[in-house]
Amino acid sequence: MFERLEPITPDGILALLAAYRADADPRKVDLGIGVYRDEHGETPILEAVRAAENALHAGQTTKAYVGPTGLAGFNSAMEQLVFGASHPVLASGRLRTVQAPGGCGALRLGAEIIRTASPRSVVHVPTPTWANHVPLLGGAGLALEDYQYFDPATGGVHFAAMRAAIERLPAGAVVLLHASCHNPTGADLSTEQWRELLELVKRRSLLPFIDMAYQGLGEELDADAYAIRLFAAELPEVVCAVSCSKNFGLYRERTGALHLIASTHAAADAALSNMVKIARGIWSMPPDHGAAVVHGVLTDAALRKSWEGELASMRIRITALRAAVVRALREHCPQRDFSFIARQRGMFSYFGITTAQVRELRARHHIYMTDDSRMNVAGLREENIEYFAQAVAEVLGHG
Ligand SMILES: Cc1ncc(COP(=O)(O)O)c(C=O)c1O
Repeated sequence: MFERLEPITPDGILALLAAYRADADPRKVDLGIGVYRDEHGETPILEAVRAAENALHAGQTTKAYVGPTGLAGFNSAMEQLVFGASHPVLASGRLRTVQAPGGCGALRLGAEIIRTASPRSVVHVPTPTWANHVPLLGGAGLALEDYQYFDPATGGVHFAAMRAAIERLPAGAVVLLHASCHNPTGADLSTEQWRELLELVKRRSLLPFIDMAYQGLGEELDADAYAIRLFAAELPEVVCAVSCSKNFGLYRERTGALHLIASTHAAADAALSNMVKIARGIWSMPPDHGAAVVHGVLTDAALRKSWEGELASMRIRITALRAAVVRALREHCPQRDFSFIARQRGMFSYFGITTAQVRELRARHHIYMTDDSRMNVAGLREENIEYFAQAVAEVLGHG
């Protein structure tokens, strides 16, 4: 049977990681893979997470299944974190949450429940969007179409084009939105633009499917969830896929949640029962550890405070790196304006150089970013920013 299979070229980002690992040059810089790195280039376990894990190990008495919807305490702590503790949707009886294996599991579950409810749904995704959205949503059997999102000329959102594209969608169309820290561009909507988009979504009767993988890494916890909270307050139906991989540093523990808001209590119950059936057919029961840790962190006042502090330092480091890289590039490449990097949010930035220049950076200077010139700003360190800017200047012909 398997002789029929054609080999698949590995995912570009995985091939990039392998090339980086094989590079013996001590100056090498990894701006490819999307994980947070501290000033030592490491992706540490957060102290609040470590403390919650220790408490969990000491107090856990069973490894029995938690059930297909996951840990109830995690789900309600996530609802409060994502929507805010006093959001009216929490008491509306229209919100249902299912724990999922990471943001990816949540996205897949969201796609599956949409397809179950409306098999011919089309999901409209921003260009560009995170590459894995395509197999996650398309693999569930949904058709995908693009809408223009990024403006290479400004390094920001091309809101006029986005609005025009969304204005043309038929009622019931699904619009995939990144809540904050857009991956791969770092370009986010302003609060005014979100409000304008909300009116459009309302008027056209569209279904927003919001992906939030970086809450707390852009502006701060509440501001990063602005769009979700606004849409949840104003619309009959919203689907949100949330990841705890980055903001809790729990990547390999596969921790996330799908929040679904339906128009009535009965519709929400029906959706939940369908989500349980879908989850049973994919992963059956979610992994417990990461969710139990998040629950421990969010429900213990001291751990929560410590986590918020650690999250703030990650965010402050990224913001400082963005400012430093803009300064260094201004000095080394004065002919070109890179100030958009400081306006973007989260770990990623679309650097805006050609694939040939990206490859030259890799071959001559051991600097690794994806071919589309997405860079993980957190992969830089204060001590190599100068090296990076000089290398960019050389590659751009200003050196
Ligand atoms: C935009 C976006 N959505 C979702 C995810 C899901 O991540 P995970 O499944 O690791 O929680 C990521 C991770 O990189 C992401 O960048």
